[in-house]
Amino acid sequence: MSGLASPPRCIPLPLDGFHRFCHALDVMAHLLVVDDQKSICELLEITFRKEGHRVETATSAETAIRRLQSQIFDIVISDLRLAESSGLDLLKYTKEVSPACFFILITAVGDYEDAITALNYGADRYVRKGDKLTEELRQVVRQVAESLKLKKEAGYLRRELRRLTGLDNIIGQSAKMRAIFELIQTVAPQSSRVLITGDSGTGKELVARAIHENSARAQTPFVTINCGAFPETLLESELFGYIKGAFTGANENRQGLFQAAHGGTLFMDEIGNMSLAMQVKLYRVLQEHKVRPLGSMEENEIDVRVIAATNKDLGKEIIEGRFREDLYYRLSVIPIHLPPLRERREDIPLLARSFLDRFRKAMEKPVEGIDAEALRRLEAYNWPGNVRELENTIERAVALETGRTISVNVLPEKITSCFQEQLGRTRSGEGRPVLPDVGMDLEQHIQQMERSYLLAALEKAGGVRTKAAALLKMSYRSFKHYAKKYKV
Ligand SMILES: Nc1ncnc2c1ncn2[C@@H]1O[C@H](COP(=O)(O)OP(=O)(O)OP(=O)(O)O)[C@@H](O)[C@H]1O
Ligand SMILES: [Mg+2]
Repeated sequence: MSGLASPPRCIPLPLDGFHRFCHALDVMAHLLVVDDQKSICELLEITFRKEGHRVETATSAETAIRRLQSQIFDIVISDLRLAESSGLDLLKYTKEVSPACFFILITAVGDYEDAITALNYGADRYVRKGDKLTEELRQVVRQVAESLKLKKEAGYLRRELRRLTGLDNIIGQSAKMRAIFELIQTVAPQSSRVLITGDSGTGKELVARAIHENSARAQTPFVTINCGAFPETLLESELFGYIKGAFTGANENRQGLFQAAHGGTLFMDEIGNMSLAMQVKLYRVLQEHKVRPLGSMEENEIDVRVIAATNKDLGKEIIEGRFREDLYYRLSVIPIHLPPLRERREDIPLLARSFLDRFRKAMEKPVEGIDAEALRRLEAYNWPGNVRELENTIERAVALETGRTISVNVLPEKITSCFQEQLGRTRSGEGRPVLPDVGMDLEQHIQQMERSYLLAALEKAGGVRTKAAALLKMSYRSFKHYAKKYKV
């Protein structure tokens, strides 16, 4: 069978992804500069902005704390002596709410003991005031930004590795899937929201990732959340974050997923399971492009592309009052519907072979193909669990198979028995097929049989069409006609 189908269809990543990614990282850290002398704040702000960093300033510990309550900083640079309080207090606060933040303390000559105390409190560096202050700070900040960049690069390489191992490849050659590939390629580069619908296991998450990978945001975070997996209050803090003390147990500032996805994509899975109260909050965020962490007074601007998915019929959910119509229109700027696998049976052989390849390698087993009979049964089955069910079936078959090709013996009974029914081989005493009580689509049934026999003949003829035609006692012309009709 392997010579019959065209190669699996994949969505390629832009080739120069890594270089574009590194370039995108040239804008590096988020800095907070704290000094009671406004002129020093201004000088450092100009210096670090020129270097490409995002810089904010505060002339008192109080203002600095307010900033730390509502934003996440990579680096805080603070003078030890502030007008009404000590930089040490600010240091303690920062390390409490944002332990990962790099803290640089500026000390005056003679503050030696305080500098030692600062290091004991968790300061990462101290720099002496003097002519070389700016230059020294620049060097330290550069080093910190470099290590941030390395961390982000490591994240990128991990994602890239996952992509190359085939996780993000969408396979399909049916007309329905081809239309979806085209849609993905058209909508991916834009930043419009996408709502992906389809039954469980049809590949919604795969499509969401493909959209992200093919967008200008490919090198930025792709953050996912399963909205059905959290109770309402937890979902809110996951999405919007919180500040220390917002509720019992909020021991430090925590970034929400909207902020984590800033500049990138947030994939909101099972959106149909979100409570109505949460839907109102989400609607506001989508409308205003701002989030307010729980317990904070300040709102943060966010630039996030939202891709949502659900296996529910949202139209029905709206009618029954479980989903807000206004939110639906916000989310479904571009709707993509993934058809169930039984409506694109042409994809089954291709998918099955691709899964076989993957599991054969992973299990290091010499299973090289799927025999014609087993394939016919896979093609005839209804696949209520869609591609995921097919994937699991092939995994199981590879594990159980002792020969070189997957045979009917290693397929689950539900698949083989369904085939018997479909082919009408269950005969009554007089040798007539038994018609199911619910009736059947005769035309579709005959077409399926015709296609199955065509495939079987080709298999037997080793892929030689003239021989396959002869086996079916038809002219080569008729054979070509049917092969075209059934996309064999
Ligand atoms: N077209 C496809 N090509 C290759 N693999 C696919 C395809 N569609 C789905 N899969 C695989 O099937 C499994 C299920 O896909 P996915 O998780 O994207 O489905 P889903 O629609 O999000 O399901 P659910 O609603 O249950 O979350 C995954 O392992 C995925 O890799
Ligand atoms: Mg999913």
